[in-house]
Amino acid sequence: MLRTHTCGELRSEDVGREVTLCGWVDTNRDFGGSQFIDLRDRYGKTQVVFTPQSGAETQALARSLRSEDVVSMTGTVARRLEGKDNAKLATGQIEVRGTGLKVLNKSLTPPFQSSAVGTQELAGEDIRLTHRYLDLRRPEMQQTMLLRGQIVKTMRDYFDELDFIDVETPVLGRSTPEGARDYLVPSRVHRGAFYALPQSPQLYKQILMIAGYDRYVQVARCFRDEDLRADRQPEFTQLDLEMSFVEADDVMGVIDGLVSRIAREVLGLKVNLPLPRMTYDEAMRRFGHDAPDLRFGMELVDVTDLAKECGFRVFQETAAAGKFVRGLKAPGGGTRYSRKDIDLLTDWIRQDFGASGLAFFRIEPDGSAFSPIAKNFQPAVLAELVAHFDPQPGDLLLLVADTWEVSCKALYGLRKRLGAELKLYDPKTMHFSWIVEFPMFAHDAEENCWAAMHHPFTAPRPQDQELLATDPGKCRAIAYDLVINGSEAGGGTIRIHDSKLQQQVFDLLGIDEPTARERFGFLLDALKYGAPPHGGIALGIDRWVMLFAGLDNIRDCIAFPKTQKAADMMTDAPGQVDAKQLKELGIQIIR
Ligand code: AMO
Repeated sequence: MLRTHTCGELRSEDVGREVTLCGWVDTNRDFGGSQFIDLRDRYGKTQVVFTPQSGAETQALARSLRSEDVVSMTGTVARRLEGKDNAKLATGQIEVRGTGLKVLNKSLTPPFQSSAVGTQELAGEDIRLTHRYLDLRRPEMQQTMLLRGQIVKTMRDYFDELDFIDVETPVLGRSTPEGARDYLVPSRVHRGAFYALPQSPQLYKQILMIAGYDRYVQVARCFRDEDLRADRQPEFTQLDLEMSFVEADDVMGVIDGLVSRIAREVLGLKVNLPLPRMTYDEAMRRFGHDAPDLRFGMELVDVTDLAKECGFRVFQETAAAGKFVRGLKAPGGGTRYSRKDIDLLTDWIRQDFGASGLAFFRIEPDGSAFSPIAKNFQPAVLAELVAHFDPQPGDLLLLVADTWEVSCKALYGLRKRLGAELKLYDPKTMHFSWIVEFPMFAHDAEENCWAAMHHPFTAPRPQDQELLATDPGKCRAIAYDLVINGSEAGGGTIRIHDSKLQQQVFDLLGIDEPTARERFGFLLDALKYGAPPHGGIALGIDRWVMLFAGLDNIRDCIAFPKTQKAADMMTDAPGQVDAKQLKELGIQIIR
């Protein structure tokens, strides 16, 4: 080893020891004729001092050191001078009095600092992604990467203790329908044919159940060509599992245990089990979304019935058209948001959620409700409508009159934004819950067809199976999503294990028999060879790390992430390939 200790290791008990440390120069200050160098590695920082006693040549070399030079420093551990302790550093009581110094490698002047910085001083993301090796040196990044490693290790240990078998599934395979576009890989050997990178190992894990591996787990890389957001990456990692001879409660029970273990080991947090459950319908009604943030209230209030005869034309017409008038109460929002702020919120929900408008009522100190539209209301109905929200003076009521879908989306957006702006919850708290009983299908109005809400292999609730033939929109699935702080952190279902029922669902989805045979023939065949009842779930590891680390950008939880445009700025992927490669693949680029 080139070093005797790491830069985070030495304490006052080590005083007097002769040590050699290796690392990167974090800072180098010239003070009173001595060089004070903070040497950094992933374990911490240690102050090394080169005084005139270190020798003129060594001191001159120390003086020449710049940020990010890699060095080896030898010296004796000493107690820091009286009053010079640094309580922020674990090594802050000692320093190393340098006697020897070797430059292992010089660094160019870095485009940004790799030392710990607050978000304010953080360099722009593009430059950090281009020089990811410098960004990954930052202590904040290293802590996140360590946390990620710890979470994955805990997951692996947990499933190993529960007798799960870790099986790897192919990356070059056939398309699995998880709802996104596939990344395709052309085959050289089979000209004109393509592999699809897995959107998830869904079909392989079902096949493994049929093969008798009744508890499967894998840390699986998934690829989805979809619009990216702060919590989505084109290439991400799932903790994927599948179990045979189980019901939904069994799968959720296993994940409950995992949540409680990770919360305890990573955050020292006690989580009460079982985790609370809410149906999809209730979540949409109370929060307008299937992954609500339950760290705060601010529930949606439906006043459609009152709107029918309220006197205000817009509300009345909306209610008469079978649409909805719903709203929420922003506690303290009446004093916090000016008229101009409300105009901006209105523009925002119009543009982002397609809402037709936003009505507001400000609750005055005397309890009355002020709004430019108040004069249009029958006073008694208005009083009743406002009372539905149970407001206090200073509150703000915001209402959206629109279709069910638009009112859900717009009010969910408002709730999320206002909840954060009004600081209705402590961002450090964690809330875990299950959303269950999702619809089997979502209706695509444009194409006038059904799409699978989760994926086409999801089983309907036995009591709803008849609805497949009569009213598919009402059919509920045995599906469950794990929600952490308003983020979908995992999703799974009990699967169909009967080939006839599977074809019935394919038919509803517009996948006729020949197409099903062509795409999933292997699964339909396998289902006929003794398929056990089975179900599973996949957890989004990147999202777990993001949520447990209290971050709001998934890119900060991945060592080498892609940008919003799915590019890797460090390697410049995706890149051009040369004409010879294209020719071998039989591919011609049309620009
Ligand atoms: P699903 O598509 O719900 O289910 O994915 C499971 C979980 O993976 C995470 N996730 C993502 N994370 C980052 N970037 C993305 N683009 C992304 N997409 C999904 C989410 C999500 O809850 N095969 C099924 C699982 C099953 O049924 O067992 C599946 O993949 O946290």
